[in-house]
This record gives sequence, C-alpha cells and structure tokens, in this order.
Amino acid sequence: MSDMVYLNGAFMPLDEARIPVLDRGFIFGDGVYEVVPAYSRRPFRMAEHLVRLQHSLDGIRLANPHTDAEWTTLMHDLITKNGGEDQSIYLQVTRGVAKRDHAFPKDMKQTVFMMSSPLTTPPQTQIDNGVSAITASDFRWLKCDVKSVSLLGNCLLRQMAADVGAVETILFRDGKLTEASASNVFVVKDGVLLAPPKNNLVLPGITYDVVLEIAHAREFEVEVREISEAETRNADEIWVTSSTKEVLAITTLDDKPVGDGAPGMLFKRMHTLYQEFKRDVMRKPA
Ligand code: PDD
Repeated sequence: MSDMVYLNGAFMPLDEARIPVLDRGFIFGDGVYEVVPAYSRRPFRMAEHLVRLQHSLDGIRLANPHTDAEWTTLMHDLITKNGGEDQSIYLQVTRGVAKRDHAFPKDMKQTVFMMSSPLTTPPQTQIDNGVSAITASDFRWLKCDVKSVSLLGNCLLRQMAADVGAVETILFRDGKLTEASASNVFVVKDGVLLAPPKNNLVLPGITYDVVLEIAHAREFEVEVREISEAETRNADEIWVTSSTKEVLAITTLDDKPVGDGAPGMLFKRMHTLYQEFKRDVMRKPA
C-alpha cells in the first residue's frame, strides 16, 4: 500500500496532504462522508453510495462538487494508485475554508478529500463466535440519516463499548431500537427477521439494503417496523451490519447471552448468502 490520497484536484502521498485550519470541516464538523468497500479493486454498490452522498449533501445544503461520473473516475484512480485488492475508500466533502462564522459564507469552494485503507472485515473467530455489544440511550441529533462528519455522538457511544472490550453500542431512543454507533442492527425473533425502518433516526445503510434484498430474494420472513427495547433484549439473534463489518452476530448483550449465546441459524444462512452475493456481483463485467 502506498497511502496515496486525493485532495482538491490532486493525488498525493498521505503525509503531504494539508488543509487550512479554517476549513469548516475542522472548525464545525461541517461536512459529509462516505465509506465504500472495494473488493478485488471494484467498488461495491457505488451507485447506491453516490445516491446516499447526494442525500447527505442535500441534508446540509451543500452542492455536490462532482458528477457521479467524476466520482467514479476518482474512486477508480484512487484504488489503482493504492494497489490493494480489497480496500475501504473514505471520501469527505466539507463546506470549505472561510473566516469562522456559523452561517454559511457566500462563494465557498468545497474541500474534497479521499483516502484508501486496506479493507479489514471481521476475523473468522468473530464470524464463528459472534461478538459482544452493550446498549445505551441514543443521544445523537435528529438527522442521523445524514452521514455527517460531526461524529462526536457516535464516537462517545462507540468508546463506551471499547471501554469494556465490546464491539458495538446498540442504541435505543424513546424505548425503540435505532441502530448502533457505527452500524445498523437487525433482530431475529421466532424465525422472523426484524429491521427498524429507515427514517431520520438511522443512517440508511447500504449493507442494510443488501441484507434486506437477500432476505426477500431467499424468502426469509421479514418485518420492517419499529422494534422495542424489550424485543431487542429478548431476541433470538441480533446482527449488526456495515460496509466494513458486513454481517456480524451479536452473541452477548450487556453481559447476557443473546439466544443461546452463539450465532444463530438465520445469521449463518445470511452470512453465507452475503458472501455469495458479493462474489456474484464482483464476477459480473464492470
Ligand atoms: N459506518 N449506521 C452508522 C451510524 C454508521 O456509521 C454506519 C457505517 C452504518 C452502516 O452503513 P453502511 O452499511 O452503508 O456501511 C450504519 C461506516 C462504515 C463508518 O463510519 O466507518
């Protein structure tokens, strides 16, 4: 890996990339981002990530600095320059550099940054045994559908898990399951796959959509609806999903076993189907 990044029109080594301290991303967290996994050097679900990027930009009233074709070219160039087979592409757009003022200054030029790191999906032991999670009250803002770089809430919540050696913090707002600090959450009860609806309280996960697509295609019993905290705590299975975690079973919640404390039947099926789905997509001509 050569750690090449893209910043405002040019590719350069990571340690040469600089932004002015008055960038509103630095001062206010005024920007949005995406994380796109690339398998065998091919971005996975790029079109969907670009749709979500546009949704996030619209959500903060920031113009998209690039067309989808330009983003696609940039992403491919970054992948080629970095050279690993499986990469995690991070891209960020901020409102740019201006004298500090909460209101948006006129005639700003967006800051565009992209970097790549090796894609590390969960190790086999985590897939086989599941991982532990804790729970917390979801104290984030009410625009969680915007993939904002203002991630302090998520960082504080994720650190609560890290402090006790858990992998995720699962969140409840007003007695309902929302998502986790950096992933979406699914619950299985009596053979039914339950998913919280997409609304302003959760990030519309690209992996969430893939999982639901597979579940529908394979005729899982699925319900997309509000899930109570009690239902979550009494679940037979809990899964978290994200571009980097893919699908992972939570087998301990707040120190109590989920179901029988091992990854469930439905998880095992979905994990296998997800891997097959990925392989099939990657085999298709670009
Ligand atoms: N996070 N919910 C939150 C709060 C997230 O941060 C993420 C992903 C997801 C899952 O979205 P997707 O399936 O599109 O990756 C849900 C990324 C990976 C991150 O911030 O690193």
